[in-house]
Amino acid sequence: MTRKITPLLSSLLSLLLAIAAIATLPAQAQVLARPGWAGSGVTVDPWWKHAVIYEIYPRSFQDSNGDGIGDLKGITGRLGYLQSLGVDAIWLTPIYPSPQVDFGYDISNYEAIDPQYGTMDDFEELVKEAGRHNIRILMDLVLNHTSDQHPWFKESESSLNNPKRDWYIWRDGKGPGQPPNNWQSLFGHSAWKYDAKTNQWYYHKFYPQQPDLNWRNPEVQKAMFDVVRFWLNRGVAGFRLDAIQTLFEDPSLQDEKLLPGTNDYGDPNQDDSLTDYLPEVHNVLRDLRKLTNSYPGTRVLIGETYLNNVGDLAKMYGPKNDELQLPMDTQVGFINKLDVTEFRERLQEAETGLDGNQPLLVFDNHDNPRSWNRYGDGVHNEAIAKVLATILFATRSTALMYYGQELGMDTNTPTRKEDVKDPIGILGWPREKGRDGERTPMQWDESNYAGFSTARPWLPVPASYKTVNVADESKSPNSLLNWYKQLIALRRSNHALHDGTNIVLNHDSDNVLAWIRRPATGAAVLVACNFSATPKSLSFKQDLRQNHIRGAFLRTLLRSDPSIQPTMDIDAVQLQPFGVYIGEIHF
Ligand code: NOJ
Repeated sequence: MTRKITPLLSSLLSLLLAIAAIATLPAQAQVLARPGWAGSGVTVDPWWKHAVIYEIYPRSFQDSNGDGIGDLKGITGRLGYLQSLGVDAIWLTPIYPSPQVDFGYDISNYEAIDPQYGTMDDFEELVKEAGRHNIRILMDLVLNHTSDQHPWFKESESSLNNPKRDWYIWRDGKGPGQPPNNWQSLFGHSAWKYDAKTNQWYYHKFYPQQPDLNWRNPEVQKAMFDVVRFWLNRGVAGFRLDAIQTLFEDPSLQDEKLLPGTNDYGDPNQDDSLTDYLPEVHNVLRDLRKLTNSYPGTRVLIGETYLNNVGDLAKMYGPKNDELQLPMDTQVGFINKLDVTEFRERLQEAETGLDGNQPLLVFDNHDNPRSWNRYGDGVHNEAIAKVLATILFATRSTALMYYGQELGMDTNTPTRKEDVKDPIGILGWPREKGRDGERTPMQWDESNYAGFSTARPWLPVPASYKTVNVADESKSPNSLLNWYKQLIALRRSNHALHDGTNIVLNHDSDNVLAWIRRPATGAAVLVACNFSATPKSLSFKQDLRQNHIRGAFLRTLLRSDPSIQPTMDIDAVQLQPFGVYIGEIHF
């Protein structure tokens, strides 16, 4: 039951309670609740629980030195923009020295900065300046593999009895010219590469230039945990753990089971159960969490988790919430079609299937075609993008977004093989065209190269940049960018959207995805998204009754249809094609 209390009084009360609670906390915990940071929903929750985390692909965000490649100084120069958007943390994809075969995911030195992106001083400046903008920095931690140019691998490959031989996975072949088993790389063909010097094969889940580390060797864990300390000591707020599911392989080295059909590289499909998500991963995650927990302030561990079901995802948090704080929930964001039942069920699972843990929703990243294209119908793309943003920011979730998502940037997939930069696109052409399309330069304005660089960028800017850019969209009140800003601000300032439980409603037959955010005290909020091109007028009276919420009308907080009135009858909520309505429930 909602109590009879006005929203203003309720906000004031929660603010006073929160201040009283904070005053009794030790100094370290107090840092978490920054003044003005969480609006009326000031709580003592760790920062990441309500955060908007913004993924930057540094190569493509902002070039400051005119070489066509983005860099750290470029990012520092754009912190004002990120703060105005409402970003709490930036996840930087790898900026370490690298031969750049996999654009940074092949690391040759974990404790330095690639000169293409700048210097350690530039990094320290970025952390400091970001702090001034209330933005934290998260690093990408690639534990599964190194570059084949990393000194560890150079030593390892040098001889059969080098002390680092066992840091990687070396095995004899089955016979002359035959790899140890049928395991396949996620990036195509055999996962084993032959080394003539030592007449053995090494295992690589990804490119041959990315040999897998042997996580069964304790020295590997020790060396990598030193890397973790190195960056924590430099003030990073946590890590996104790359390819965390594939740290271990089954020691039996048996063949993987074959499945029907072939993949994009023409290889037979395999079930991957001997090389993906082995239970040993959890031991490493627990040790890592202990390490990050031992540092002051709350450091966060985000997982690159592509799991098939909510049960496996739940395990990533650890039985005692002692593993990842935020494994990526790809169940919701990668449905890839506006199917209202699927969305409702997946959101409901995030409520009931994660043992009360915080979901981390994500629709876009540097490995997948942009949601603009995956969900857009070619006619209502902007309205659909507003629907997706509403799901991302107005459900009970930490939000992970990708640069340019807030603008509606297009996936600019190469049309000719000779233009492809991402090696999987070259190997897999034409079925797999690679990931260049979602990594194009950030679109800042309509000047040459979209304001990203003065030189020709490493990837072409999509033609849409003339209108889809920060400068233009900032000026237009109904732009996607302004929708993002308003949603993020609302999620921060509105008590229900900040702290409320999430009650997912069933309006599947109306093709409307709707939910209620219900705070412990004060007004609940209704969110409704039309999943169709047909306008709707819906009653939510029944939903309120079922959930014991009193309400007769809604006070409009945000809506995609600018003509909607400041209040609306609970019996007749109007939704435009792919329209969104967010209103506070009153009686
Ligand atoms: C996942 C990263 O997101 C992707 O870009 C990379 O290619 C692989 N892991 C290998 O590190």
